[in-house]
Amino acid sequence: MPALRALAPGADPAPPLSILMVASEAVPYAKTGGLADVVGALPGALARLGHHVTLVMPRYREVGTVGTARHHLELGLDGRRLEVGLVEVEVADRYQVVFLDCDALYDREGLYGHAGIEHSDNAVRYGALCHAACEYGQQLEVPPSVVHAHDWQAALVPVLLRTRYAADPAWRRVPVVLTIHNLAYQGLFPPDTMRVLDLPASLFSLEGLEYWNQVSFLKGGINFADAITTVSPTYAREILTPERGEGFDGILTQRRDRLRGIVNGIDGAVWDPCSDPLLPASYSAADVGPKREVKRAVLDRFGLPSDDLSLTRPLVAMVSRMIDQKGLDLICEARVELMALPVSWVILGTGEPRHEAMWRALAVAHPERVGARIGFDEPLAHLIEGGADLFLMPSRFEPCGLNQMYSMRYGTVPVVRATGGLADTVRDVESTTGPGTGFVFDDYTASAMLAALHEALATFGDRPRWAAIQHAGMTQDFSWTASAAAYVHEYRNAIERRQRAGAGRGE
Ligand code: ADP
Ligand code: GLC
Repeated sequence: MPALRALAPGADPAPPLSILMVASEAVPYAKTGGLADVVGALPGALARLGHHVTLVMPRYREVGTVGTARHHLELGLDGRRLEVGLVEVEVADRYQVVFLDCDALYDREGLYGHAGIEHSDNAVRYGALCHAACEYGQQLEVPPSVVHAHDWQAALVPVLLRTRYAADPAWRRVPVVLTIHNLAYQGLFPPDTMRVLDLPASLFSLEGLEYWNQVSFLKGGINFADAITTVSPTYAREILTPERGEGFDGILTQRRDRLRGIVNGIDGAVWDPCSDPLLPASYSAADVGPKREVKRAVLDRFGLPSDDLSLTRPLVAMVSRMIDQKGLDLICEARVELMALPVSWVILGTGEPRHEAMWRALAVAHPERVGARIGFDEPLAHLIEGGADLFLMPSRFEPCGLNQMYSMRYGTVPVVRATGGLADTVRDVESTTGPGTGFVFDDYTASAMLAALHEALATFGDRPRWAAIQHAGMTQDFSWTASAAAYVHEYRNAIERRQRAGAGRGE
């Protein structure tokens, strides 16, 4: 059995699972945010533990040519017949992607929208993703052990499996795990969507998909999933409260026995300052010296001075969707004080026009110290992580957040608000539970953020202390291995729960 030779140490000794994963984006094929990083890395981590993963996702225009469809499905949606090709691509041992090829739905600019406007047929586009994933799974000779759906775009999968496919004896035993990456995105559509997606009208109810007289994909998923996970333990607790429950705290509280927080890992093959081909110099925890060369390259890229004196000034970075969730409103409020700090800034992001305009204006007003790039640029994100000294994430809420972990890995010290995954992954310098890896503030206020930045800058001058913080961050284990094992644990619990439910009905 040559394939088994590639198993990671600590691989699961129980029989391997076959996991059918459904998601709307995955690195390296299509990305708008952290969901793509997670869905791009988790299958590989599961495969290294010995499991088999098939990921079903759309073949968007930006995926390009990946192969030819050898099988086709026909879906009846939106009053028309949609032909969907299945393009199967072997990515690694035990990991394949099935791309849904349907130009009418996916061959266009932008994943979810373009030029700030959402695609008007997203209900059909992601309804089709869910229908096609279920059809594909049903046609397999051996059904998967478990289905794992991510976010609202895949959240109709549990609904369909427990209703439309409920009578199928093979599918009936297969549990569905739903992962919520961000509860704020709920997949809300007009009531007519029930008809458009060929869903029974009876599901337009409190226990089904109805939410304030709209159809919510995510609510349906929460109601029908066998297990629900979210991407950090703190966020799993936060979403049970009215402040952070986004209106779903009630139904989540009802299902809290099935809810669990599993913190994301990071893909060490993609994010590693020792081997990152996107950096002009490589460095490691043992020798951070070459990081200075990366800093010079970042300053050059943004057209900021990079002479020796400028290199000594702390460089603060943000790579972020420019929306209030990420603390952009706080930054706007504190912009005068922020610009008065003795630092340089590099900013990369896209989002709300007012936040983009603010950063553009700040760059114009402070051409020597502020560089702002409005756009999505993955290679530049790597360069910034490598070259900056501090990374600011003052999020209002943050289900997990990946950039703070990339930052720590790259010796770039994060300044974060204690919320969700930020609270779970960054240890404050004042902490008594272990060596500090960053600066953490509690209150969502401009003054708390500024106090943390002031403290960070005072510490920056203390070189040995700064080096110790960098070292502590760079040597943290953020690998996917533990989180993938936690998902396997959830899968097995869900399988058992489903079997018990079946036994109860005398199946
Ligand atoms: P979220 O998914 O909420 O946006 P995360 O921190 O989980 O936040 O993940 C964001 C991911 O998207 C990171 O990999 C980050 O580097 C990347 N990213 C965000 N904005 C940009 C951008 N403008 N250009 C390149 N990468 C970006
Ligand atoms: C969402 C969240 C982010 C999380 C990412 C991946 O986009 O906003 O906090 O890291 O999903 O799980």
